[in-house]
Order: sequence, then structure tokens, then C-alpha cells
Amino acid sequence: MKIFLDTADTSAIHKYFPTGLIDGVTTNPTLIMKSGRDPEDVYQELKDMGISDISMEVVGNSSEMIAEGSRLYEKFGKCCTVKVPCSPEGLYACKQLSRDLINVNVTLIFNAAQAILAHKAGAKYVSPFVGRLDDNSISGLEVVRSIADLYCRQGVCSTEILAASIRDVHRVTRSFYNGAHIVTMPPAVFGKMYNHVLTDKGLELFDEDWSKVTSNSGPSFGSFSQLQKANPGNELKDVIQKVRECSS
Ligand code: E4P
Repeated sequence: MKIFLDTADTSAIHKYFPTGLIDGVTTNPTLIMKSGRDPEDVYQELKDMGISDISMEVVGNSSEMIAEGSRLYEKFGKCCTVKVPCSPEGLYACKQLSRDLINVNVTLIFNAAQAILAHKAGAKYVSPFVGRLDDNSISGLEVVRSIADLYCRQGVCSTEILAASIRDVHRVTRSFYNGAHIVTMPPAVFGKMYNHVLTDKGLELFDEDWSKVTSNSGPSFGSFSQLQKANPGNELKDVIQKVRECSS
């Protein structure tokens, strides 16, 4: 199971990448537009951060997509996954790029028939859009399941299912349950995956009891939750850093 962040907001990626739980990043023209930045500056920053799989979307006709995809691969190397739409032009570009051993993510997938074509075009990933299907009264999770069943029955291993357009934690877990290999999600959804009221309550109780144990045995570095509370802004990477310093 791999987790990707679905954003071009590098500050959010800087916040969550140090958790060690993020396997890649997906972007699209809308996310790049929202970032207000040059796309290649964003890709370079992500590469420098150590992100090993970055979906970079290309547009235009098939020749333009092939030329741009090859150029991006030349520039960014192995971390570049070229993202193309599931259209005749996009799938033709996918076939040519994948022949050159460039990884391709076929996006805007809304049914299993499109996932068949994307696999035949050599796609490394197919991206069914769970949220946009749900918005149109079709179960996005059911589409993920149908692609997973079909790939399984046909012994497809070279194309992975990357569930996209995810709006909540429930759809993250159900996408994996229904056979997705990867789920890409907005940073806010990733942050919410940690949450459970019983974890907070349990942690509070354990902290309280632990402080009673350690009160008799010299100075302690304090609990994780105390550090989180004491840390202005609750920046996860700062908290992790403080825990590391205290533990070494
Ligand atoms: C990612 O690959 C997709 O482009 C993205 O998940 C689409 O999400 P949206 O439907 O929320 O725009």
C-alpha cells in the first residue's frame, strides 16, 4: 500500500514528507495553477526533497504530449511519471512513452473499460477518480473494485491502480480494501488518517500514568503529547525532531 499526496503545495509536502509515510506526489494542471508557481520549479523542489515518484501532467495532442513527457523525463529522470488523460491522444502518447521505458500515469479514468485500454497502452498507473464519480451518483469505490477484480482475473501486474480524487479518510481505507495499490490524497486527508478520539483519550491516560512512574526516577524528556502541545504551530516535523533530540 502506497500513499501519495495529491497537491502542488510544497509547504504541505515539506510538512508531511518527514513522517516517512509518503511514497510519491501527484499533480495536475489545476493543482499547479492553484500553487501560482512555475510547474518545473515545483517538480524540482519535490525532487530535491527526495520524492521518488512525481506525476507531472502533460497536455495537447499526442505528439505534444510525447515531446513534453520525454523532455520532462530527460530533465527530472526516474522520479518523473508522465501523466496523460485517458483519451485516444493520451493513450497513444502512453504507448510511445512506455515503449521508451518512461512511467506513465493514465488519469481521468471512470470505468473498467478505460482501465483495460490504459493497461494495453503500457500504463504504469491508472487513476480512477473516486470523488468525481461519487459526485455523479456512481460509486467510485465500486469502479476501483471492478478494475481490481478485472486486473486480478487477467493476471495484470504491470499496471497499478492509483485511486485519485479522494475527499475523505473513509474513501482512503475503502480504496485500499477494494484493491487500489496506491491512494493519492490531499494533505489534509492524510493528516486526518492519524486521528481517533480513543487514541487521544488513551494517550492522555498513558501519559498521566507514565508521569507517575517517572516522577520518582529523575528528569524525563516528557511525553510525545506534551511536546506536541508545547510546540507552537504543532508542526509535525518539529515535533519528530524534538522527540529524536530528547531520545538520543
Ligand atoms: C490526481 O491524480 C487527480 O488529478 C486528482 O486526484 C483529482 O482530484 P479532484 O477530483 O479533487 O480535482
